[in-house]
Amino acid sequence: MSSSRLHSPLYLLSFSLLLQLALATPPLFHFCSSSENFTPNSTYETNLNKLMSYLYSKTPITGFGSGSLGVSPNKAYGLALCRGDVQRTDCQACVAEAETEIQKRCQYNKGAIIWYDNCLFKYSNLDFFGKIDNQNKFYMWNLQNVSDPVYFNEKTKELLGNLAEEAYVSPKMYSSGEMVIGESKKLYGLVQCTRDLSSVDCKKCIDGAINELPSCCDGKEGGRVVGGSCNFRYEIYPFVNT
Ligand SMILES: *[C@@H]1O[C@H](CO)[C@@H](O)[C@H](O)[C@H]1NC(C)=O
Ligand SMILES: *[C@@H]1O[C@H](CO)[C@@H](O)[C@H](O)[C@H]1NC(C)=O
Repeated sequence: MSSSRLHSPLYLLSFSLLLQLALATPPLFHFCSSSENFTPNSTYETNLNKLMSYLYSKTPITGFGSGSLGVSPNKAYGLALCRGDVQRTDCQACVAEAETEIQKRCQYNKGAIIWYDNCLFKYSNLDFFGKIDNQNKFYMWNLQNVSDPVYFNEKTKELLGNLAEEAYVSPKMYSSGEMVIGESKKLYGLVQCTRDLSSVDCKKCIDGAINELPSCCDGKEGGRVVGGSCNFRYEIYPFVNT
């Protein structure tokens, strides 16, 4: 009957909690998007590093930051965006993690993009501001099938369409909401654009993503189309912070 034995489950618990705090969340996805590399200690690297510290401090204030630094051909362009419901401290933590991780995964690459649940970070030696990113995109979906796919797909499209209407005219280019489906179930969704896009292009980008619903998540309980300029997500459970 040693007390240490009695306490051991507690130790295990706190150890795993500590581990969770120490081990960062893995990113959802990333692309090293340039065919060109920069050399270590080059002007481009210096510009990129300065841009990263700027975006690290700037982004959490409004949830979006963009900027460019240097003179062509060593000019670096970058942006960071936090999900519309993410608090300032979580936003900053996510941008910090994204910047650290992308430098490991795309070391010396002149362009890259990385996504997390809470944020995205993108940089390039090419000016991409205000242009819809059709290159960098991925899908995620829940493996579970819904029982009535025709009805469910229609409702998903309707919810995301409604959210798109709200998002493109809102200052944060973000909208989240829910809809009752069937008798007592609910569908939850969000849509968001990077704020370098014009309002019209934000709408165009989200509409394009919604059109990919059949290829992404046909009859699935949850799904996401995630791009460099906009994304949507829907689930049958709440996932947005309120
Ligand atoms: C880059 O600069 C650091 C610090 O000045 C130096 O230690 C390192 O050797 C340099 N690397 C290259 C490849 O020049
Ligand atoms: C969902 O439906 C697909 C296609 O009919 C099937 O291959 C898959 O096994 C189903 N998934 C689950 C989790 O039942």
